[in-house]
Amino acid sequence: MLDQNLTDQLGHLLGSKGFFTDADDLAPWETDWRKLYHGRAAALAAPANVSEVQAVLALASAQGLPVVPQGGNSSMVGGATPDASGTALILSTRRMNAIRSLDPVANIVVAEAGVILAHLHDAARSVGRRFPLTLGARGSATIGGLVSTNAGGTQVLRFGTMRKLVLGIEAVLPDGGLYAGLAALKKDNRGYDLTQLLIAAEGTLGVVTAASLTLVPDILDRAVAWVGVDSPAAALGLLRALEAASGDAIESFELIPDSSLRLVLQHIPDTRAPLASAHPWHILIEYVRSSPAAAPSAEALEVLLAAHYDKGLYRDAALASSEAQALAFWKIRDSISEAERAHGPAMQHDISVPVDDMPRFIEDASEAVEAAFPGVWVNAYGHLGDGNVHFHVRAPEGVTDPNWRLETGKKASQMVYDLVTAAGGSISAEHGIGQMKRDELARLSSPARIAALRAIKNALDPRGVMNPGKLIP
Ligand code: MLT
Ligand code: ZN
Repeated sequence: MLDQNLTDQLGHLLGSKGFFTDADDLAPWETDWRKLYHGRAAALAAPANVSEVQAVLALASAQGLPVVPQGGNSSMVGGATPDASGTALILSTRRMNAIRSLDPVANIVVAEAGVILAHLHDAARSVGRRFPLTLGARGSATIGGLVSTNAGGTQVLRFGTMRKLVLGIEAVLPDGGLYAGLAALKKDNRGYDLTQLLIAAEGTLGVVTAASLTLVPDILDRAVAWVGVDSPAAALGLLRALEAASGDAIESFELIPDSSLRLVLQHIPDTRAPLASAHPWHILIEYVRSSPAAAPSAEALEVLLAAHYDKGLYRDAALASSEAQALAFWKIRDSISEAERAHGPAMQHDISVPVDDMPRFIEDASEAVEAAFPGVWVNAYGHLGDGNVHFHVRAPEGVTDPNWRLETGKKASQMVYDLVTAAGGSISAEHGIGQMKRDELARLSSPARIAALRAIKNALDPRGVMNPGKLIP
């Protein structure tokens, strides 16, 4: 509960469209989409513009009111869910959803924090451009959340993560001060780079309210192929060979174990296996044509794959014969998370190791974890070319009790993170730390790293109001 004085001030400031205290209005935003984290909030603020965000944060800092920024509520790590105390204010960016400018000549779009990724894609396409970052949650994930988690997705191979695509940021700092850093400067050496600091800060240093983002030319056409391979090592070998032959035409190269495909076929309606033949591993390849001088994608990818068949790098391939089929292949990839959720408890780990080490890591770590926890099985899929897979440890078949996560699951997670750390990798390649990995970050980071994170946090947010309980151990 907020005290009456604070409730009155926030209500007066934000009006009836921007301030909510009824339990029914709050309930959908107190739980994450995977239903792993259940919190309680005192109220929800939905400011209409940056000056309202400034006023809310100034009040919050002055009164010690915890603020939990929230975009599309699609965090994978409980990063946007309040704790159970019922004291926090959820700050939703949903009403700040304007595209402030769209410049197809300079190739820059300025989007407010609440713009949904799919809407940004549509806006860019309407002027013959693309925003080259996409992921399964594009229908709900917002620009503010994508910036605040340095999101990755399925085009990182060619275009990098959010950090690479952000040209500038506007943000409100915890005391209500405005960081007006939207100008897309190619050169800027005014000391510490606040834009970079706010990217991946998970709302612990302020609220990102808008971002200037890079656009690239729209593609002329694309080809999508589903390929069956024997192992992750063969898959990486194929990627290297295709890249050497085609430059940057390959935008996505997603590794999918047969177990992921089976889960999708079992739980997601209107899906079917792209290949008639069975394979332990599959790859989804997206190949694009950006220049009229190049051959049409379908032709080029077919020739490319045929040229590599004899080298034994893959077993079978199906080229999507229509856009509808291309979408059907992608639907399988983008539904893995949802199919997994429907299947029962699992521990999610989005991990990275050096790219060339990933095939061996997948094989060795799966074997080690499956041996240590009888009955569990590993479902490792995703962005092989980025050295990043979603290394999920699933409860034994038949186990439906969510509490499995709390004991056996937790121990299995620790083992995965120990193996990743020993391999010189990261326990968070793209989803962030949130609530889920905060203890593990503390356990596995050097004292110097933790001390630096805490010092930055304390300097900018001395009262600790911004997204408490997330990221910073
Ligand atoms: C993905 O690549 O599908 C997303 O990062 C979500 C996930 O499945 O963990
Ligand atoms: Zn991913």
